[in-house]
Amino acid sequence: MKIAVIGTGLVGSQVVDRLVAAGHDATGHSRATGVDLLTGEGLDQAVRLPSTPIQPISSAEVAAAVAEAATEAPLGGAREVACPEVVPPDELGRITLAATGDGRRVVTDETAGLFAAVKGDVLTGGRPATTRYRDWLQSR
Ligand SMILES: NC(=O)c1ccc[n+]([C@@H]2O[C@H](COP(=O)([O-])OP(=O)(O)OC[C@H]3O[C@@H](n4cnc5c(N)ncnc54)[C@H](OP(=O)(O)O)[C@@H]3O)[C@@H](O)[C@H]2O)c1
Repeated sequence: MKIAVIGTGLVGSQVVDRLVAAGHDATGHSRATGVDLLTGEGLDQAVRLPSTPIQPISSAEVAAAVAEAATEAPLGGAREVACPEVVPPDELGRITLAATGDGRRVVTDETAGLFAAVKGDVLTGGRPATTRYRDWLQSR
């Protein structure tokens, strides 16, 4: 599990150690790391995203695939197109915020947003697109 521990002192640091030793992805937070439990600072600014595995694809590659299919012989079925890279939304959020100089944190929240309702079995072995998210972000 991803667990945010508030307090990085004597107790909090041991809680994190124990959780990590038990196989969890635990991180300590405090005012020193930008989180103030009393004022809500840091917590309020957090971006909540789930860790559902998704295959992000650029709209340009979606459009190209649709245009290609439209001019080919009828498929008589469906064609799947997806990036070969599997990146969860929370990781996409971290990459995006870092690339845009946005100081907010991303908190993994398996109940947040549309992708929270999606299961991992939506991953497809479809025709691979080529643009990876980081490259797309840099090209903007
Ligand atoms: N140590 C013990 O034996 C013991 C026993 C029983 C109960 N407790 C209780 O357990 C709690 C933690 O004890 P501790 O010994 O680990 O204390 P500690 O070493 O002083 O650590 C306190 C932690 O809380 C953070 N903190 C303080 N105010 C905060 C705020 N407004 N928002 C977010 N983080 C905040 C501090 O970091 P920043 O200053 O950077 O925010 C620090 O990381 C305390 O309530 C204590 O009374 C401790």
